[in-house]
Amino acid sequence: MPPSGARIAATVRADVRALAAYPVAEATGCIKLDAMECPYELPEAVREDIARAVRDTPLNRYPSADLSALQQAVRAAFGVPDAAGLLFGNGSDELIHIAIQACCAPGDVVLSPWPSFVYFDMAARFDHARFVGVPLTEDLSLDLPAMLAAIREHQPKLVFLAVPNNPTGGLWPAEQVQAVIDAAPGLVVIDEAYQPFADGTWMPRVLDLPNVVVMRTVSKIGLAGLRFGYLAGSPDWIAELNKVRPPYNLDVLTQAALLAVLRHKPVLDEQAARLRADRGPLAAALAALPGTRVFPSAGNFVLARFSGKMDGNAVHLALKTRKILVRNFSGAHPLLADCLRISVGAPAENAALLAALQEILS
Ligand SMILES: Cc1ncc(COP(=O)(O)O)c(C=O)c1O
Repeated sequence: MPPSGARIAATVRADVRALAAYPVAEATGCIKLDAMECPYELPEAVREDIARAVRDTPLNRYPSADLSALQQAVRAAFGVPDAAGLLFGNGSDELIHIAIQACCAPGDVVLSPWPSFVYFDMAARFDHARFVGVPLTEDLSLDLPAMLAAIREHQPKLVFLAVPNNPTGGLWPAEQVQAVIDAAPGLVVIDEAYQPFADGTWMPRVLDLPNVVVMRTVSKIGLAGLRFGYLAGSPDWIAELNKVRPPYNLDVLTQAALLAVLRHKPVLDEQAARLRADRGPLAAALAALPGTRVFPSAGNFVLARFSGKMDGNAVHLALKTRKILVRNFSGAHPLLADCLRISVGAPAENAALLAALQEILS
């Protein structure tokens, strides 16, 4: 017997009932430029290594508590300081929850520049924290005076800074990030999901900054299907965060596959470098379309505003009809009016997108 609507309404949290589930578009047969995935598949030799590693992984036991081999591989591959603690998550989405659950009692504040990664807000709400988004400036830069005033007013337990930022692509200047770190009374999570496409990283300094942890993911460098994120910081922070990590959160197949792939780390670097090199020409070609503004991006994507012949919603729909998926932010926030976020794809995908937009907009 199906449950009655009244029982569900009386049981499920009102704020959860009012939400929509995280949108994932149906993508069969489409050019997929909506989720900042790497468009390149792993070479055959790497896949062979993964297959061997997975075949030899026993599934009858829970994952081992000893993660030292994976920790060593992650340190070596991604430049995590030897003395830093490491926490692994089922994607950095899980690490966001872990940080909030460890730091925030109900009603405590999680703060981030806004718009930024939508899951900072969602996770805070799910975990009974209060999310404060500090608006960016009109040109989608960090509004440092507003950030400092909000930190003073709300005394956040946690500040999330996506550097570079999603969905805008902006890379906050180091001195502004430092000013936020200095002002924050609690923990600052620097989310470097898009660092492989940008200049600079806060990782080497993570032990010099007493209230900072650095979070990264492998999702944007070719491994979105693996669901693996890592968070590095002082072992004292990591020990506390680790207490709320769900037991066995990192499954044995993910661990085995990641260890195998990291033996071929230059493949991931090369893919990221290709996307980074293709970003500039894609942005320039988009900016040359009539009525289109492109915001500077340090990620593997660009944000573009369409305010010519067609608005953002219409362009999004016209692309979708042509089986090209991009992410529509038109209605997400006033600062993102008519904005679409477009992942850098493989050259043929970028060419198809540009040809479609030429046709749509001229
Ligand atoms: C800034 C930022 N952080 C974290 C994530 C989540 O990454 P993961 O796939 O590791 O959960 C994303 C995904 O889009 C992101 O944009």
